[in-house]
Amino acid sequence: MAVDITWLGHAGFVLDIDDYRVLIDPFITDNPLAPVALEDLDADFILLSHGHGDHVRDTPALARRTGAEVVSNVEICGWLRQQHGIEVTHGINTGGGVELAFGRVELTMAFHSSSLPDGSYGGQPNGLLIQTYSGQTIYHAGDTAPFMEMQWIGEAGIDLAMLPIGDYFTMGIEGSLRAIRLLQPRTVIPMHYNTFDLIVQDASRWAQRVNNETDAKPIVLDPGGSYRL
Ligand code: NI
Ligand code: MN
Repeated sequence: MAVDITWLGHAGFVLDIDDYRVLIDPFITDNPLAPVALEDLDADFILLSHGHGDHVRDTPALARRTGAEVVSNVEICGWLRQQHGIEVTHGINTGGGVELAFGRVELTMAFHSSSLPDGSYGGQPNGLLIQTYSGQTIYHAGDTAPFMEMQWIGEAGIDLAMLPIGDYFTMGIEGSLRAIRLLQPRTVIPMHYNTFDLIVQDASRWAQRVNNETDAKPIVLDPGGSYRL
């Protein structure tokens, strides 16, 4: 079965896996690149990389309306339950994973920070390793710098990686090339850029360098654009 990946702008993606709709870091409110309205977004699952507002902000409203199961670290899931009454959460932690209806989700390490919008402690930031039951392996790095352990993450055999390229808050183009060489993904989608003035990047220049300097195939999406894996 194919997986359809749609970019919501910033670090947000919709993954249509079999009959399940899985959102990663959906950020619509205050996202000038958002291609959909919050009320038009459906979800069976919401996966969150860390606690920053540009990643968790819309999750309380989305989870409440859709009843989606939320997967994130234990602190963020606790905050969603206690502060927002979200009932079905899987609060795992770095290196741990959970089997869900569409596949397994594991939290990987990330080098970043993770406070929640109200200042609560948001635990450690994470990346997400998704292994579908039909055999696709997808890695969403979250907000991070490159790190040597990406080589271990790559041993899973990554079909598609989503990597930040915006610089300033995360790795930029140079860092993403280093990450690609360690991860060895088959295909790679850039994210966390152009949303705000501070993280403007030239994605076509990035794609050219990925083609010239790595073995991965770059896939640049417009917000709302999709790729079939
Ligand atoms: Ni962040
Ligand atoms: Mn961010």
